[in-house]
Amino acid sequence: MIIPSIIAIDGPAASGKSTVGVLLANRLNYLFFDTGIMYRAVTWAALQRLHAVDDEVRVTGLAEQVQIDVQPPTRADGRQADVLLDGLDITWNIRRPEVDANVSQVSAYRGVRTAMTKQQRRVGQRGQVVMVGRDIGTVVLPEAELKIYLDASAEERARRRFEELRQRGEAADYEKILDAMKKRDKFDSTREVAPLRAAEDAVRICSDGISAEGVVDRILEIIRIQHE
Ligand code: CDP
Ligand code: CDP
Repeated sequence: MIIPSIIAIDGPAASGKSTVGVLLANRLNYLFFDTGIMYRAVTWAALQRLHAVDDEVRVTGLAEQVQIDVQPPTRADGRQADVLLDGLDITWNIRRPEVDANVSQVSAYRGVRTAMTKQQRRVGQRGQVVMVGRDIGTVVLPEAELKIYLDASAEERARRRFEELRQRGEAADYEKILDAMKKRDKFDSTREVAPLRAAEDAVRICSDGISAEGVVDRILEIIRIQHE
């Protein structure tokens, strides 16, 4: 079986992209790269340093300057990786509600996307990578040999986020999560630059009622069938 060198996974919030991506990368001994972290880090930087995300020119300038690093975890607090912004640990800051509320606006700025896409391509083109996001199969790495569009119903996805927050001991309101997630998905899929959508040659998987391991098995089966 020939394993595709670049695997792109796109899909809406909490569809399971990072969970499935990490498991798949581990099975294949590939690098896992979550592009959402970069947009979240720029959003956090803008909120901290500019106190708002409305000024496209200034936010773009920030995106072009900041150094975002993702490294193996140094703390056992549930994190999958350490996320550093100019050397500072922002792993949990980028998961805060104010980042959720502003990240779509930041991600819609053309200059921000150009800066992020350039870095993502550099990593992707080295190969042996599972890259996850919104526009990997359509814009960042359209040459990917395997493209997955991972989806699940909005209710299922909101339930997953709700459970995650509860397990971390944080306050969670299901209806609010559902509402915020629907808004973010709508914004992401209707923006002008690199909107969230399935590439024409993507394989669609709906993960309602399927565990992350189950989705990985399905992807490995697709690889077996397509690349035998
Ligand atoms: O984890 P979740 O699916 O909730 O979000 P994420 O993957 O961390 O992405 C956060 C936000 O970054 C998305 O809502 C998009 O606005 C943006 N994003 C993007 O525009 N393009 C990507 N390739 C990845 C994320
Ligand atoms: O990266 P993305 O935002 O697409 O989703 P995620 O963070 O990988 O997954 C969101 C939550 O759903 C995690 O807590 C996963 O364990 C869970 N999940 C699930 O219950 N069933 C799946 N098939 C995939 C993920």
